[in-house]
Amino acid sequence: MIKVDLSGAKPFFTTAGPDFAHARLAHETLSGGTGLGADFTGWGSLPQRIKEKELDRIVAAAEKIRGRSEALVVIGIGGSYLGARGAIELLHPHPGKGDPKIFFVGNGLSADALSDTIAQLGDMEFDVNVISKSGTTLEPAAAFRIFRELLHRKYGAHADEHIFATTDAARGVLKSLAVANGWESFVVPDDVGGRFSVLSAVGLLPMAVAGIDVRRVIDAAIAELTGLDLRSPENPAWQYAAARQHLYGKNFDIEILGCYEPSFRFMGEWWKQLFGESEGKDGKGIFPASVEYTADLHSMGQFIQAGPRNLMETIVRFKKSRTSFPFPFDEQNADGLNYLVGKDMSEISDTAAEAVKEAHVSGGVPNIVIEVPERNEEGFAALVCFFEVACAISGYMSGVNPFDQPGVEAYKKNMFRMLGKPGAV
Ligand code: PA5
Repeated sequence: MIKVDLSGAKPFFTTAGPDFAHARLAHETLSGGTGLGADFTGWGSLPQRIKEKELDRIVAAAEKIRGRSEALVVIGIGGSYLGARGAIELLHPHPGKGDPKIFFVGNGLSADALSDTIAQLGDMEFDVNVISKSGTTLEPAAAFRIFRELLHRKYGAHADEHIFATTDAARGVLKSLAVANGWESFVVPDDVGGRFSVLSAVGLLPMAVAGIDVRRVIDAAIAELTGLDLRSPENPAWQYAAARQHLYGKNFDIEILGCYEPSFRFMGEWWKQLFGESEGKDGKGIFPASVEYTADLHSMGQFIQAGPRNLMETIVRFKKSRTSFPFPFDEQNADGLNYLVGKDMSEISDTAAEAVKEAHVSGGVPNIVIEVPERNEEGFAALVCFFEVACAISGYMSGVNPFDQPGVEAYKKNMFRMLGKPGAV
């Protein structure tokens, strides 16, 4: 279970502190299905439903791909890829022997990035997982046309056997194509929005192909969501949501998410979409940014320590390192580092984190720590559930609909008009 440490934020609270009564109300709105966007709150029961309905088929498809292919090309953008990429980079950053390499495409429109991936793919045996809830998003649709053609060139009449489509249960072009061509299909449930869909086939199929134990992820998520149903200020999701809304009320309107594990980078990207798209509307919202420590202390550290004082900082810390790395002794000690002997690298990193917290808090940056037991399947599931519940509560506390994203359409409208899409104005 996640723990939230607010000790570095407390100095910035008013005497009343975070509004837990408001967090309770927001939680009740969420669980009662009485709030804005209630039709999109199915992610709360998603792990249980997936376990009952689709998990076996997801694992079987992943085994098939793992057994025959050297690569999986995952085509998707936003909520249709960030979670899977976050999980894979966090838990399985380097493919082991027999693990297919995972390529992510269709998350932009760069000709160079596409050519690069195709070059890296070379003559590898590969499968494609195309993921799009709407089935109409330009970036993945364009990439899919290109990779379908590659599949046809490589596998001829068997190309369709190498396509796995994750899309709406009934609607959209991708669904129609999947039915017409007999592609194996997985569902993005109607009541789950893209950024809340990582624990559906959207995230689970690529994760399973990469070698992540998705059954463990789902079991842990079910347990975590039960724990997060607690109606009390002890609930870590209340603590985080109420603390950040309290700080927002005091003009801290930028939140930096940081971690001392470089493998967390894409979880930061996933988190940015989750909170940015859920809360940034109606002229309100905390701007989500992310940093990688300690690397970014040498680039962004100056700004964080002494720039405008509207930043709050949330640090994800994994309590236990996966490996032990004792600092080596050197008889000459020409580099003067023998004072570190007797410590593990993870201890040195933990000390750095404490030092950074002290410095940033004294420099005027409220600090929230999210403590995760381990960087493993359970830790990942706990983080996802924690952030999703906290995001919904935080969004309701700020009075917005956390489950829509009307602002995303503006650029699309212009782009389709400029590209000459039939019917676009
Ligand atoms: O959260 C969201 O709704 C978005 O990020 C979508 O996931 C993203 O735009 C991709 O949409 P789609 O899956 O329909 O292609």
